[in-house]
Amino acid sequence: MDRLRGKVALISGGARGQGAAEAKLFASEGARVVIGDVRDDLCGETANLINGAIGSAVVRAVHLDVTRAADWRAAVDTCVRDFGGLDILVNNAGIFNMSGLEDTSEELWDSIVNINQKGVWLGMKECVTAMRRRGGGSIINISSVAGLTGSTGSTAYHGTKGAVRLLTKAAAVQYGPEKIRVNSVHPGIINTQMVDIIPEAMRSQFQNLVPLRREGTAEDVAKLVLFLASDDSSYCTGAEFVIDGGLTAI
Ligand SMILES: NC(=O)c1ccc[n+]([C@@H]2O[C@H](COP(=O)([O-])OP(=O)(O)OC[C@H]3O[C@@H](n4cnc5c(N)ncnc54)[C@H](O)[C@@H]3O)[C@@H](O)[C@H]2O)c1
Repeated sequence: MDRLRGKVALISGGARGQGAAEAKLFASEGARVVIGDVRDDLCGETANLINGAIGSAVVRAVHLDVTRAADWRAAVDTCVRDFGGLDILVNNAGIFNMSGLEDTSEELWDSIVNINQKGVWLGMKECVTAMRRRGGGSIINISSVAGLTGSTGSTAYHGTKGAVRLLTKAAAVQYGPEKIRVNSVHPGIINTQMVDIIPEAMRSQFQNLVPLRREGTAEDVAKLVLFLASDDSSYCTGAEFVIDGGLTAI
């Protein structure tokens, strides 16, 4: 129950899905958590739900568009002002699209790159100063199995998630001496609203293919992210953590 006691975490895209599951688990492990999202109402509701369950105001919701540096600065300020500092960043916000190479418009490309790739860089950039003041920290960048392997579509998504993998390693090398650890997480198909756009037939095909024969849950991923956020992973940095039911082992 105390794996994050005394730590402060900032989670992007925390209104729903995996980000919300991570906020809930982190809070139950003693962390104070700021969740940021563009879905302001839902983000507030998620914070209220977790605070109600815990019985204390340990989660704050803020408006955060990950493509905007000013929003990141305000989110970090909230961590420092309300909770005394920042130890953990989960760069979780992301958008998914299945368009193939020629079907991807420039507008779509730019929006996916801005949120999934630029957003991760900006998050790290705006958080390291506060972590340095605490003498270290842990950054978890949510990539995907789509950042490790290709497929017949989702071109921009693959490109951005692959970039997150190497942004992670570059930051891990740069900030290791300051005890700021940086790791990437690579989920397979996780049952959240993000994958509602995948046709049902394709989802059952995947389920029959995955060695563990099921989709992952947001809670499955949250447990791995908790490990990386906590001191249990104190010698892990610059590494890729795959959580896909065995999909990429095939
Ligand atoms: N669900 C999957 O199968 C799967 C698989 C691999 C990786 N992922 C990755 O996991 C992460 C979480 O996805 P999820 O499954 O919880 O999906 P989700 O769609 O439920 O959650 C994503 C959240 O990000 C928020 N968001 C979108 N644009 C934003 C922006 N500009 N600024 C701030 N917040 C923004 C959304 O409002 C939403 O709350 C994403 O990075 C996604 O790419 C998901």
